[in-house]
Amino acid sequence: MHPRLDDDLARLPELLDETRAQAVRLLTGLDHRPVAQAPADHRPAPLPVDGSGLAGALETFTRRWEPGFSGAAGPRYLGFVTGGATPASLAGDWLTGTLDQNPTSGLDSNAPDLERETVAWLRELFGLSPEHEGAFVSGATMSNFTGLAIAREWLGEQLGVSVAERGAAALGPVHVLSGSPHSSIGKALSMLGLGRSSIRGVDRLPGREAVDVGSLAQALESLDGTPAIVVANAGTVDTVDFDDLRALAALRERYPFWLHVDAAFGAFAALSPEHAHLTDGLDEADSVCVDLHKWLNVPYDSAVQFTRRRDLQARVFQNSAAYLGPLGDDPDFVHLTPENSRRLRALPAWFTLAAYGRDGHAEIVRRDIALAARLGERIAAMPAYRLLAPVRLNVVCFTLASSPERVGELTSAITESGEAFLTRTVYDGVPALRAAFSNWRTTEADVERVAKTLERSALQDPPGRP
Ligand SMILES: Cc1ncc(COP(=O)(O)O)c(C=O)c1O
Repeated sequence: MHPRLDDDLARLPELLDETRAQAVRLLTGLDHRPVAQAPADHRPAPLPVDGSGLAGALETFTRRWEPGFSGAAGPRYLGFVTGGATPASLAGDWLTGTLDQNPTSGLDSNAPDLERETVAWLRELFGLSPEHEGAFVSGATMSNFTGLAIAREWLGEQLGVSVAERGAAALGPVHVLSGSPHSSIGKALSMLGLGRSSIRGVDRLPGREAVDVGSLAQALESLDGTPAIVVANAGTVDTVDFDDLRALAALRERYPFWLHVDAAFGAFAALSPEHAHLTDGLDEADSVCVDLHKWLNVPYDSAVQFTRRRDLQARVFQNSAAYLGPLGDDPDFVHLTPENSRRLRALPAWFTLAAYGRDGHAEIVRRDIALAARLGERIAAMPAYRLLAPVRLNVVCFTLASSPERVGELTSAITESGEAFLTRTVYDGVPALRAAFSNWRTTEADVERVAKTLERSALQDPPGRP
């Protein structure tokens, strides 16, 4: 064995303790480190030849890299839609690396059964029926990709061709209808050989991001019986608007289409009694995407993909090889998602659900929703700002009242303050900012700090004035 490996093995308990101490220092310091910072220039170092052992690597990482990392795990990182990691999910993540299981084949351990148990827990959490089977993937983009891959196979089934065998070209032009698809839908369609231009935008309700069901019906009618894919949205990224999922599902009685729902973070509305109605009809979807590194607060990367047509899923993703054995009625995960080998992503999710249960996670969701509403009220009361949409769930979308074009400067000023991190968007043609609440640690005191930062930034920055 290489002497450095030999040394590390001999000192493993002590070295892991040092790493643990570092993790504790990082987590307890989250409140004090800048929430985000502009990335500094970094010249890549040469490949180490001899290496410095784990202690040396830890020292180098701490000196060279750690100071430039963001406080993304913390309570005032409100950019994108970003969760943190609950204590139990973090412990589950450590054990995932420690045990280093590959759960994609069921030949050597119970790890795939743990994944199946976790999928069943998640299914119940989101109110889905047992007809929805699921698998873990790396994020909502891959979950959308997998759902749309199954949809593509379904289109083939309608036309009597196997896309898995003959390729996407066998389908001819494909129609994907959606009101406000997330950018990852275009990416997935590009990867699937269906092309980004297969998306047909459908009118939305006035002043909303939710699709106009009447316009969708017309668009389907115009296809004259050609099977299509409808991508419904349960929680749009800017204003967290929801399509009327029940009404969309009912259209299948009149038109042939596959209903895929992107519920990346909106599925969690099911945990809040006042908002659960937004997810009505989710169960009727043919495939559903839910991200877990957002509102479940497990570390990156983690999402789940549900579908009612596991048979089609296995047709797309099967990886037949003599050494993997036959597919069978309950195929191994190797036959269900893009990866043949991967980590046991279910374990952090299993840990957090085992530790805090449905109620613990419902509390996080309800608190984040309440905090978003609170920040919305604070912003509405500030003359320098203007809300661009009602706060429907966990995202506040707003702009500078008199000079929206200066939102970029404002975003930088907020980042430089180190107090908060918000990301930009353009909503209905207006440059805007979004504050997305999905971290388990965020409290009212954090909302106050963010509100004060916004007040200060508006005063310092001439942004309110031309
Ligand atoms: C609605 C929606 N869909 C898909 C995604 C893509 O998620 P990921 O970056 O985890 O792939 C996001 C990310 O914010 C999202 O909000």
